Amino acid sequence: MQIFIDSADPAEIRKYYELGIIDGVTTNPSLATKVGRPYREMVDEILSFVNGPVSLEVLGTTYDEMLREARGLSQINPNVYVKIPMLPEGIKVVKALAAEGIKTNVTLVFSPTQALFAAKAGANFVSPFIGRFDDTGHDGMEVLKEIVQIFKNYQFPAKVLAASIRSPRHLAEAAIIGADIATVSPDALEKSFKHPLTDKGLQAFLDDFKKSGLQPLV
Ligand code: E4P
Repeated sequence: MQIFIDSADPAEIRKYYELGIIDGVTTNPSLATKVGRPYREMVDEILSFVNGPVSLEVLGTTYDEMLREARGLSQINPNVYVKIPMLPEGIKVVKALAAEGIKTNVTLVFSPTQALFAAKAGANFVSPFIGRFDDTGHDGMEVLKEIVQIFKNYQFPAKVLAASIRSPRHLAEAAIIGADIATVSPDALEKSFKHPLTDKGLQAFLDDFKKSGLQPLV
């Protein structure tokens, strides 16, 4: 499974990227506004050290606007995947971009039928938003399961990118279900590393060794 970080903050992305387990980045307009730096400068910095897919979202919502923006974004760097919102016009754009070889990530997917349409249009990544679906009282993981099954049934080349992953449990379940990729918030990534029994166990090992009077081997 590939793990992406869901952030537009170059410093935050670098911190986790250096761990060696992050394969790519997803950004969105809301994340970009939180950083407080010029947009192009942030994006250039991210692309300078991330050696993998970086999703950048279009801001237009009409066919012409999205197509124009997507072509421009794809020129910035070959690692750019253009995020297109799950709209009928968006699906049309994805189809056109696929024919031009421009890579896409269909975003704001909340149902199996939306995912099916995105895959049929030729999207590279299809992003169901698990946490946001959970927020409405539904079960995001059920939708993820159905999408993974549909893509398997028809061998769609599109990758299922589990998005809006907000907890270690979300990440674990996405992996169990077989999502190709999960994009994880820095907070959820941080929490996914930690376990109180790890900290407690390590402390006990070190304390025992210290008390024993044994000399370290190296
Ligand atoms: C994915 O591409 C989105 O940027 C993201 O996962 C949204 O997450 P949120 O619902 O926690 O904002």
